[in-house]
Amino acid sequence: MVLCQLIYSSVATEIMPKSKLYKILVQARSANALRDVTGLLVFVDSVFLQILEGEREVVTALMKKIETDPRHTGVKIISDSDVSARTFAAWSMAYVSPSAKELATWAGLRNTTTVEATLGMLQSEPGRVPAVLSSLLTAPQQE
Ligand SMILES: Cc1cc2nc3c(=O)[nH]c(=O)nc-3n(C[C@H](O)[C@H](O)[C@H](O)COP(=O)(O)O)c2cc1C
Repeated sequence: MVLCQLIYSSVATEIMPKSKLYKILVQARSANALRDVTGLLVFVDSVFLQILEGEREVVTALMKKIETDPRHTGVKIISDSDVSARTFAAWSMAYVSPSAKELATWAGLRNTTTVEATLGMLQSEPGRVPAVLSSLLTAPQQE
């Protein structure tokens, strides 16, 4: 079995009140638990950042489905790698909602203010990704 960790960002196509976000989370959590997929969803300033972990074929199939979901658009893969262990092993889909500034700080970017800028930096400098992941791991989770 090949374990992989895929990270992508996207932009919500509609206003995302908590009720809509929770609908995604509740459904994702039960579906992911069945498929042994773990990960974390970040939502900040209309931008999603999601980390999906699991068997490569399972994650690839899930990503294909997620990509066509009309609730978001502009899916950009930030990283996609084989890993020896999961970062978010305990969560079928954790949810963290930091500020844009917090996210930037976790990426080691002091003067970056928008989520888009931070994600652009993560994409061009993947070396910054592990620091963000470990900050997300210890960040307070929303229900
Ligand atoms: C930002 C975002 C993240 C999502 N994350 C997951 C996820 O982790 N797991 C999952 O099963 N569905 C997730 N979904 C929902 C899928 O896009 C899709 O609606 C779901 O897999 C239902 O597929 P089905 O119609 O085949 O049952 C997500 C949707 C969005 C918009």
